[in-house]
Amino acid sequence: MLKKVEWFEQLFNNSGVGIFIVDRNRKILEVNDALCKMFGYSYDELIPQSAEYLHVSKERFDNFANIAFDKVLNNESLNLEYEFKRKDGSHFWVRIAGDSIESNHEVLWTVTDITQRVEVEKEIKYLNSRLNLEIKEQLTVLREKDRQLQYQARLAKMGEMLSMIAHQWRQPLTAISATTSYMFGKLVVDEFNRDEFIDELQHIEDYSKHLSKTIDDFRNFFKPNKQKEYTTLETIINTTLDIVTPILSNNNISVKLDYRCNETIHSYANEIGQVVLNLIKNAEDVLVEKKIQTPTITIKTYKSNNSAIFEISDNGGGISNKIIDKIFDPYFTTKITQDGTGVGLCMSKTIIEHNCKGSLNVKNEDEGALFLVTIPL
Ligand SMILES: Nc1ncnc2c1ncn2[C@@H]1O[C@H](COP(=O)(O)OP(=O)(O)OP(=O)(O)O)[C@@H](O)[C@H]1O
Ligand SMILES: [Mg+2]
Repeated sequence: MLKKVEWFEQLFNNSGVGIFIVDRNRKILEVNDALCKMFGYSYDELIPQSAEYLHVSKERFDNFANIAFDKVLNNESLNLEYEFKRKDGSHFWVRIAGDSIESNHEVLWTVTDITQRVEVEKEIKYLNSRLNLEIKEQLTVLREKDRQLQYQARLAKMGEMLSMIAHQWRQPLTAISATTSYMFGKLVVDEFNRDEFIDELQHIEDYSKHLSKTIDDFRNFFKPNKQKEYTTLETIINTTLDIVTPILSNNNISVKLDYRCNETIHSYANEIGQVVLNLIKNAEDVLVEKKIQTPTITIKTYKSNNSAIFEISDNGGGISNKIIDKIFDPYFTTKITQDGTGVGLCMSKTIIEHNCKGSLNVKNEDEGALFLVTIPL
């Protein structure tokens, strides 16, 4: 059976917590094994030295009197995190608590090594700042990718516009050239007829006007107009059809229209027009590539659940289930040989979902793919 004093002595020496007692002049009176181990000193090296031995510097030791020692002497209990110095000069973090010993003007300090926790915290802080930095870097990369995508989309749009203009110019240009050859021929054989020549010149002028109108139509259609307008789906689709019909008829593709919406919408008409164009061009591409017998594009509009909806479908055989989840991804294309950029559907989805707050979805029907666009009213 231990006596009370022995019991306290046991506790003092076997505790895992470092303990030291100092007098009012901050001279070390007693230390336990744990404290010696923590600081790397032997018992005799510490007693009766000044507690300055344990502090990082003389300034800190002096300062500690103000922030801790005096308070504890005045019976305030104290518990704080503090940096000490080992015998080998290395610094480490502890949690230190102090209590005054009644009437003796002595202070008992208990010290727990928290280096590991502080290191972990430091590591977490460092990882956090790295993470922040990495997120910032990734954001910059994403922004750059987005910018490139927009740029590619613009290029693709310009390419599309040029090929459509070229297509629509071919016929009037051929006609102008045929007319001028005819007139030259007549001049060479001296069969100049004034009235006939005036007629032919009139034709040339009409063809030129047509050429210039085509340019204006395309310019208006592709103008980056970021203003919302009051319009209807039907108007937007008709404007787009004006532009693509010559190419569609050239490929014998017929367009079936079923208009049942006729609601006024307040949205980005030009941008929606470009989505319509992308969807029609995709339908045309598949119909031409697969050499479909009676190639048909069907466009329907209707109203449902307070939304204006249009569907564009074709009889081109649909989209394989293997790729249908990827077709809206940037740069996804199966048109490697036809120079597909794979940005058409991605940009269309952005326009509809981001700018118009609607949705763009796809499904396969019996004869081909069906794209469904919903614009909230
Ligand atoms: N109506 C459709 N029928 C079958 N497949 C389609 C249809 N529409 C799109 N796809 C598939 O989705 C892919 C992606 O289309 P998207 O318009 O994004 O790019 P693209 O048409 O390949 O290239 P770009 O539009 O730049 O010419 C196409 O390559 C095609 O495989
Ligand atoms: Mg496309």
